[in-house]
Amino acid sequence: MKRCNFPLVLSNIFEKQSLFPLHLIIYNPRGYSENSKFIRNFAPMIFYFSSTGNSKWAARQIADSTGDELISIPEALKGHCQYELQAGEPLGFVFPVHGWRVPRIVGEFLKKVRLHTAAPSSPYCYCLLTAGDSVGKTMERFRKSLSEIQADFNMQLSLVETVVMPESYVGLPGMVTDTPEKERKKIEAAEKKIAAFTERLNRRVRSVGGQPEGWDGLVRGPIPGFFSSVVGGFFVHQLITDKPFHVDPDRCVKCGICANVCPVDDIKGGLGSEPVWLHNGKCLTCFACYHHCPHHAIEFGRRTQKKGQYFFGRRKLHKD
Ligand SMILES: Cc1cc2nc3c(=O)[nH]c(=O)nc-3n(C[C@H](O)[C@H](O)[C@H](O)COP(=O)(O)O)c2cc1C
Ligand code: SF4
Ligand code: SF4
Repeated sequence: MKRCNFPLVLSNIFEKQSLFPLHLIIYNPRGYSENSKFIRNFAPMIFYFSSTGNSKWAARQIADSTGDELISIPEALKGHCQYELQAGEPLGFVFPVHGWRVPRIVGEFLKKVRLHTAAPSSPYCYCLLTAGDSVGKTMERFRKSLSEIQADFNMQLSLVETVVMPESYVGLPGMVTDTPEKERKKIEAAEKKIAAFTERLNRRVRSVGGQPEGWDGLVRGPIPGFFSSVVGGFFVHQLITDKPFHVDPDRCVKCGICANVCPVDDIKGGLGSEPVWLHNGKCLTCFACYHHCPHHAIEFGRRTQKKGQYFFGRRKLHKD
């Protein structure tokens, strides 16, 4: 279904350690100085967030070509989020669109992260968004947040792109996973788009007119401002909740996968116990728990009944 039709409700070298608290240094790829507290990455970084694997796959496609290191945003948020960038290395962001906006967890990371470089020039920064069909003004919102980031250099986006990937949102009537054929076509098209994007990234293409390269070609969809502001606001305030999640005890085998995949530790459970949602106020309604359950035992109220499941590579795994 086309979202725009949807009713309105809707981190080697050696580890750096201060043997003498302020000076002597041994490095590793993700080591950091006790002095500066900035993690020093010796590979360029891609910060990514992914619930059902689309964005992780996209980030991996880029990293396989560029040699970048993938850094999971939920994992990074458990640390101090301070990074030192090396001269001339690119800095990437890859994540999905949630409700035509930047997912809350990515926004949280952008507020917390601190970036430092000793290089005279700003890093080459790029962003790739994944979406089920359109991103509205998500990139505009991301760009604004990026301009407010804590960095000792002028943070500017140089290259942007959107790729349409299989749908993961199933929280409203009519919102369903894609058919196998649609899924396959989306992934094939995305693969080509990401290869072209990576080629431009490797050439460090920048546009000269003020907007990042790729800006005009983003898949914003119809009335993008309206979707990102009004509908996106409704989505954030009314639809992001873990309250409707429940488990069918007859189907649950107490494997703990749902708790393991939750990016915000909102599920208590694990091997030998049924999952319990903690209502910790952090749920993203990302549906990672729902989609990854091997026995389709999780439902979101009655809104997911008879709906399919999706995560990147699931069909191969389940041979369907
Ligand atoms: C909470 C939520 C909100 C979403 N909102 C949108 C949206 O506004 N526009 C869209 O095209 N896709 C939307 N999607 C679909 C995802 O952006 C898309 O499937 C994405 O590729 C999932 O990436 P991931 O597998 O890396 O998590 C949404 C998915 C979720 C779970
Ligand atoms: S993933 Fe499914 S089967 Fe496994 S513990 Fe969670 S609900 Fe139960
Ligand atoms: S509880 Fe489920 S939907 Fe909510 S953040 Fe965790 S995995 Fe995502």
